[in-house]
Amino acid sequence: MWRDPSLHPLSHQHQHGLALSVLIERGLKADSSEKTAADLAHKVAAAWEVELRGHFRVEEEVLFPSVEPVLASRAIVGELVEQHREMEELIGKIGVASGSGRVELLREFGQLLSKHIRIEERQLFEEVQARLSKDEMASLGKRIDDSVQKVCPGTGRLPWEEPGAAPRA
Ligand SMILES: [Fe+2]
Ligand SMILES: [Fe+2]
Repeated sequence: MWRDPSLHPLSHQHQHGLALSVLIERGLKADSSEKTAADLAHKVAAAWEVELRGHFRVEEEVLFPSVEPVLASRAIVGELVEQHREMEELIGKIGVASGSGRVELLREFGQLLSKHIRIEERQLFEEVQARLSKDEMASLGKRIDDSVQKVCPGTGRLPWEEPGAAPRA
């Protein structure tokens, strides 16, 4: 799937998010013990601190307001913002849960994260690329870059990430 360079910083973070959802799914399938769930909960909390929280902010403060006026249907932005709130809520619950409740919350979070990223990559980003001019994309890209530098200074520094290991969106 071709991606305009202006959207690369966000797409790159999407690769990390998909890798996290695969880790959760495979980890729990192999062994849904308390120890595995605790390890995955720790990874989710780290991903939130290092990247996800900032990623949501960049999307909500820079990307969504910039592209909303040109979208065929603005409902998609409302849906994506709602999913951000749902994921934040799940992360909060995962942080204090234990036992089978935590396993279920982790599964729910992993599935929602992967679904959310696929909607952004396959629907939103595709439409944005098709509707914005080259200059508009470049200007948006500059603002995304600036915002990522500011709100996600540690982006990509997740200890379990292996470059190139993430599945494609
Ligand atoms: Fe998002
Ligand atoms: Fe995203």
